Amino acid sequence: MQKLEENSIKQFDFWARFHQIFSIPFYFLSKEIAKIVNPTKGTSVLDIGCGWGLLLMELHNLSRGLKLYGIDISPNMVHVAKLKLAKIDDVEILEGSADNLPYKDNSFQYVTCILSFHHHPDSLRSLREMYRILKPNGKVFLLDPFKSGLIAKIMMVVNNIVFQEKDIRVYTKEGIQKLFEEAGFVNIQQRVRNTYHLLTIGEKARRSKLVASKEEELL
Ligand SMILES: C[S@@+](CC[C@H](N)C(=O)[O-])C[C@H]1O[C@@H](n2cnc3c(N)ncnc32)[C@H](O)[C@@H]1O
Repeated sequence: MQKLEENSIKQFDFWARFHQIFSIPFYFLSKEIAKIVNPTKGTSVLDIGCGWGLLLMELHNLSRGLKLYGIDISPNMVHVAKLKLAKIDDVEILEGSADNLPYKDNSFQYVTCILSFHHHPDSLRSLREMYRILKPNGKVFLLDPFKSGLIAKIMMVVNNIVFQEKDIRVYTKEGIQKLFEEAGFVNIQQRVRNTYHLLTIGEKARRSKLVASKEEELL
């Protein structure tokens, strides 16, 4: 296990205990993200770094009949999420790392990752994992802090002091776009949510670039 993952477990195992207070801003954010994802009935959604399970709960409230999955590296977060979602059928929460997802290739229609990505030790590896487990035409919705202006810098300093976030991975808007491209995503869209949060949406191509170029060679 990498040092950053050990830090995340320590930090989020602690914060998980204060879910009634600490999770309030995340509750409003989850409502907003659920509406943007807006999954169609019967589809499967995996939330990576699912925390207390707030987004999964909002997705369930928005559209019944979804197959919902969550994964988080913090055992205490997983415990709280399981309690919160106990009454919902078709939901599975696992403890595990975003860099090594325990799911088969081409499994999910949607992947969400909200304010977790900057904690992942190997950003490209974790994006490649998201790509691998998405179905062709599936979409990832990733919201994370990004390097922009002065307010973002102040927020980073505050976060470092309050949450003791050491060695996290934060990129510019262009840096995140480049990582998405390197991981293989297409139709990449980016929206600034506020001055320091960026939502990036990417799609897994119907055919991989390799298959497409082989097909073209044969023509
Ligand atoms: C700020 S919380 C956000 C929780 C949730 N996504 C939300 O918006 O309510 C970040 C979450 O990411 C999880 N996390 C951090 N690093 C991770 C990793 N490498 N793999 C999986 N989960 C991770 C933490 O344990 C924590 O629950």
